[in-house]
Amino acid sequence: MISSKIEKAINKQINHEFNTSYTYLAIAAWFASKNLAGFANWMQVQRTEELTHAAKLFDFLVDRGGRVELEAVGKPKGDYGSPKDAIAAALKLEQATTALINKLFDLAAEEKDYATQGCLQWFVDEQVEEEKNVSDILAKLEMAGDSKGTLLMLDHQLAKRGKS
Ligand SMILES: [Fe+2]
Ligand SMILES: [Fe+2]
Repeated sequence: MISSKIEKAINKQINHEFNTSYTYLAIAAWFASKNLAGFANWMQVQRTEELTHAAKLFDFLVDRGGRVELEAVGKPKGDYGSPKDAIAAALKLEQATTALINKLFDLAAEEKDYATQGCLQWFVDEQVEEEKNVSDILAKLEMAGDSKGTLLMLDHQLAKRGKS
């Protein structure tokens, strides 16, 4: 069994993962509207990944005898000033996710819920990767400055994600 406190917190995290997925989808749409199909592809792959995070928490909650309660997904921000702006927003989102996972881990430790801590350890490790991936793109955009050629090269590179 799972405590109602943890049940509620995991449900909240499931909602966050869906919101994150929806935000990535909005960012993908923005990149597509700017003819940056590679960036849009990267965001689409990322959107799908966030859905797998939600599914992982969903399954865990069900396995522990908890009740999944889905909440509404909010309207994501759909307009960005520049590619750098959009990627910076993605990084901020990942950093917020990391903070939420850490808080959830604290709660599981407080409640002496070892199974939840085990499940969350996967998310702790995953967030290292998530933040690194977005930070790398942001760093490259910062290096590119105003160079359209470098932006297009990066777009070409990001088009390959999920297609190997
Ligand atoms: Fe996630
Ligand atoms: Fe993520």
